Amino acid sequence: MRDFFQLPPDQIYLCGNSLGPLPRETSGRLANLIEAQWGRDLVRCWNRHGWMELPLRTGDKIARLIGAGPGEVVVADSTSVNLYKVLCAALSHQARVAPQRSIVLTEDENFPSDLYIAAELCRERGFELAAVKEEAALSAAIDERVAVLLLTEVNYRSALRHDMKNLTRLAREAGALTVWDLSHSAGAMPLDLTEAGPDFAVGCGYKYLCGGPGAPGYLWVNPGLAGACVQPLTGWMGHDRPFDFKQQYEPAPGIGRFLCGTPPILSLAALECGLDLFLAAEPLGGMGAVRHKSLGLSRLFMETVKAWGIESGLRVVSPAEPARRGSHVALSLEGELSGAGYAVMQALIARGVIGDFRAGEPGNAARPDLLRFGLTPLTLGFAELARALGHLRDILDRREWRQERFTKREKVT
Ligand SMILES: Cc1ncc(COP(=O)(O)O)c(C=O)c1O
Repeated sequence: MRDFFQLPPDQIYLCGNSLGPLPRETSGRLANLIEAQWGRDLVRCWNRHGWMELPLRTGDKIARLIGAGPGEVVVADSTSVNLYKVLCAALSHQARVAPQRSIVLTEDENFPSDLYIAAELCRERGFELAAVKEEAALSAAIDERVAVLLLTEVNYRSALRHDMKNLTRLAREAGALTVWDLSHSAGAMPLDLTEAGPDFAVGCGYKYLCGGPGAPGYLWVNPGLAGACVQPLTGWMGHDRPFDFKQQYEPAPGIGRFLCGTPPILSLAALECGLDLFLAAEPLGGMGAVRHKSLGLSRLFMETVKAWGIESGLRVVSPAEPARRGSHVALSLEGELSGAGYAVMQALIARGVIGDFRAGEPGNAARPDLLRFGLTPLTLGFAELARALGHLRDILDRREWRQERFTKREKVT
């Protein structure tokens, strides 16, 4: 599958969990869309080239990766905006059917954007946002006061993976709705939303799915609930018949009501190129094979670093148990390396090994600085990963990270 991607030969790319690599197909597809479609057929493209269908067509392709059915997923907006839409819909639903429930339950370690959106929404709607500090406290906190359980399946820092099926079951039994953020799961492991049965899910298109920078996100609503949901951004694209231009809003019957404005066609076409590669991988074992290789890659990475011993200054923080981790590996830094994480990553990047750095919270041992390495099985090989580890070891042995040039902070870390 690697041949279907365009990757710089002199780099080892370990950041596909942040911005997926470029499918070879994408540039030609976009050039064609711009020149042969937009440039020639202009506004007629919406009908002639199926532009109007793109949000649902790409949604159907994502559905195959996350175990959802056709017509259940729509691609639109950013993950943050989609989270806002589904959380509003969930709160409105609970306010109607279970007005005594007053809590949105999440965890401190959830992705900040999810927490920010939830905090403001709770404030506005009069709900309490309860964020547990430890994963172990989650199941005990799911009770009859909880309106919505809001979680990210795979943690963006540690790669810790929640048991979505079990937590969803506990929430359902307690009468709470569930919202899952799949940004670090979809495209990295098989998912089965139909079996797990949550109520809402959202996720990013630009990470593992290789949709390109700023690719739109996706949104799934349990088909039993979609037609009864009220979402807050009632734009014309979510109308049942937008081109009737009625004064009154009438939501589309199912997931289509979660659209808001005009779809970003260039971005959707780019995302479709990434998705098509995942579908092309189906005859080779699909997401099961992707996951199998991902776990092999992360085991190689983690066991190598563990074998160096803690005197190397690096500690693996991602879970050792395969079922409990996603597809990236996070390392914290100790001793001489503490406080030097950013510089270590810059030294690696200077050698062509591209990972990223996630700052922790000074003074909070539970939230250390992290070196993050994304492992994308469609493009990354074992030998290449071993070479990356060799560079890391070398940088530590030579104390290369101490060079002044590696301390200059950029906007994106
Ligand atoms: C888990 C998770 N949720 C949400 C987001 C935010 O996505 P967006 O910037 O598309 O709103 C991110 C971005 O990295 C993420 O990692």
